Amino acid sequence: MSTPDDNAQDNASAREAPATSRGREQPKRSEGQSRPTSTAKTLWHGRFEGGPSAELMAFTESLSFDRRLWPDDIEGSRAHVIGLTRARLITEAERDAILAALDQAGGELLSDSFVFAPSDEDIHTAIERRVTEIAGPAGAKLHTGRSRNDQSATGVRLWLKRELIVVAQRIVALQHVLLDSAVEARDGYLPGYTHMQRAQPVLLAHHLLAHGWALGRDIDRIRGTLARVDISPLGAGALAGSSLPLDPAFTAEQLGFANTFENSLDAVGSRDHIAEALFDLTLIAINLSRIGEEWVLWTSAEFGFAELDDGYATGSSMLPQKKNPDIAELARGKAGRVIGDLTGLLATMKGLPLSYNRDYQEDKEPLFDAMDQVRLGLGAIAGMIATATFDIRRMQAAADSETGSATDLAEWLVERDVPFREAHAIVGSLVREALAGESSLRNLVAHHPRLGDEAAALVAPGVAVTRRTTPGGAGPKPVAVQIERFRAALAGWANWSEFALPARP
Ligand code: ARG
Repeated sequence: MSTPDDNAQDNASAREAPATSRGREQPKRSEGQSRPTSTAKTLWHGRFEGGPSAELMAFTESLSFDRRLWPDDIEGSRAHVIGLTRARLITEAERDAILAALDQAGGELLSDSFVFAPSDEDIHTAIERRVTEIAGPAGAKLHTGRSRNDQSATGVRLWLKRELIVVAQRIVALQHVLLDSAVEARDGYLPGYTHMQRAQPVLLAHHLLAHGWALGRDIDRIRGTLARVDISPLGAGALAGSSLPLDPAFTAEQLGFANTFENSLDAVGSRDHIAEALFDLTLIAINLSRIGEEWVLWTSAEFGFAELDDGYATGSSMLPQKKNPDIAELARGKAGRVIGDLTGLLATMKGLPLSYNRDYQEDKEPLFDAMDQVRLGLGAIAGMIATATFDIRRMQAAADSETGSATDLAEWLVERDVPFREAHAIVGSLVREALAGESSLRNLVAHHPRLGDEAAALVAPGVAVTRRTTPGGAGPKPVAVQIERFRAALAGWANWSEFALPARP
């Protein structure tokens, strides 16, 4: 996060940069004074005799983090200006002057030559100030019938719609990696675990796709959330609408929103859609953390199930032999931070009376942080898995312990009419004997009066996993079906994420 001081530096460097479209010198930020000497005015200067203190600006500014909303703010302003023309509140000439000024301000922001003023407490203020500088009296009409409350809420919703779809696209990319790895793993298997104890062997493909399905639900959740994000608050004004003949439905349509608000207090006074988006991001972060934890284990010498590509591992500054799974560890670690983003916003929202409260400005940093971390994490984990090498031989050796087929022995007895509880006890006592080191389980089974050679064959390496035949199970037969079902589901998720954002009119 940049601080107001960074902004001051930005100003300085922007001043030095070859200015393309700036006409005149901008006021300088004055440090260490309790009153800015700026000639730029606050949006509310008429009501106030004095200017804002430096302490107030430093504590309340949001420009340092909401400047990334500039494309959305400009888009919202364009729609608003067109709406003002339609309502005959400004002339077409004024509209064109404002639109041109918005274009120019956007160009400056894009090329990083936009010069911020000390009085620019947020991106909305900065853009309106610049538009007024460029367009003169017409620019002063831009904010007609609008408040920063509906303006900033509109900007965040536009931003969120776009960014959530990018998250979905990154999930799809990770799912493709998992699918490709699953196909490549063929009939390779590893121990499946419960309680982190070896339980039954499962195909590696099955294991990888388990994460793939969970990520699919993350996309489904984003879809559900988007329906509640896709509502335009523009036209709610500060809280109560307007006396001017504005048409919220018109600007909503201009901006490509599916719906407009039903209640102006709710439009500017709610952040549940942001909390919900943060929850979706948090669950993705948690899913990534679980993948991460597995890879920390899998790449350890003790497991040795996988080796990371050099590009996706780090070394130690002191221990020459080390190859560390930092991506996997940070996927685990950053989930904690993202959970903090969610709980922080929930705490901010708690107990706030209707409608807008300045507390709501605190919605952006957790949202941006969670979005950035989850997007980076999805890309890093996808790259890590795509480039890693699985050691199927080690996985299978770990899965081929004789006791991994204990359930198959019990089920073999069940098929011969032995009640399951009795079968469980028979096999359990053989396992106990085998573990005591008397004889191999296979040998004990072969010589047991109720089992014998046919049952003993189930204990051979690689047999147990083939016995998982039920739909959705871990063996080669159902997994072949599952791979095709996942491929079809993934095509659906991919298609949605590619076309989710309708083209703007
Ligand atoms: N930066 C503010 C925010 O993000 C904009 C709204 C300020 N509104 C106000 N009435 N002071 O919430």
